[in-house]
Amino acid sequence: MVKRINVNYFKQKKKANEKIVALTAYDAPTAKFAEEAGIELILVGDSLGMAVLGYDTTIPVTIEESIHHCCAVRRGAHGAFIVGDMPFMTYRLSIESTLKNAARYMQEAMVDAVKIEGGKEIADTIKMLVTAGVPVLGHIGLLPQSVKTAGGYKITGKTDLQAENLLEDALAVQEAGAFAVVLEGVTKDVAKHITEKLEIPTIGIGAGVFCDGQIQVVNDLLGLFTDFVPKHAKQYVNLGEKIKEAFESYHSDVTSSTFPTDKNSF
Ligand code: KIV
Repeated sequence: MVKRINVNYFKQKKKANEKIVALTAYDAPTAKFAEEAGIELILVGDSLGMAVLGYDTTIPVTIEESIHHCCAVRRGAHGAFIVGDMPFMTYRLSIESTLKNAARYMQEAMVDAVKIEGGKEIADTIKMLVTAGVPVLGHIGLLPQSVKTAGGYKITGKTDLQAENLLEDALAVQEAGAFAVVLEGVTKDVAKHITEKLEIPTIGIGAGVFCDGQIQVVNDLLGLFTDFVPKHAKQYVNLGEKIKEAFESYHSDVTSSTFPTDKNSF
């Protein structure tokens, strides 16, 4: 029986000053590799929209699509802490629909927590979910689900007012009962200040080295997103290139009748 990580683990890590390593995944084999590599938290992000489904933003992702991929990730990783990212508008319409949607993540996909985007304005929703038994990972700073109202993906924390607002958001999310909070696209020094002020861990993406942990989109790490390498990411391998090479070799083998050989035949 695999021992599964629970919410307390992350608070203990912060206390022990040990970094939390998180990554997105959208399918079972990637989740398995991530878990085997020691990734503790796997987020089935709504980045699914761009990473896998071919959308331009996270906004079109539906709850059905998200849950479908959460189920796959859960089947691939049994011990890692899995977080389902609630898509656009699925936690904004009413208390009833928010609870029903969150329950689907817990009961159908059997994830360990959900993530929702927003600060002060979403604190009551976080409190309601946590009270109902749904662990919540907060997400403040650059909010991809608000890209249309923000007019783009904007780094925040550059002005004193933004820094103050971010800290207020972080404290509100903590007060509401989130077990940790993602800081996305936040200037390094502001992320450091928030990390020092919070009791719950901060997990950064584009928020510098001082966060309690880091999260990355798996496609960026593996070179599966080929347009450019985002500034916040590090490409550890260019799988896109390798996959293309493999497909070209396969194409050439088939067209030249060098595959299948007798070894591949019955
Ligand atoms: O959807 C996602 O992958 C995310 C991470 C960038 C934190 O929200």
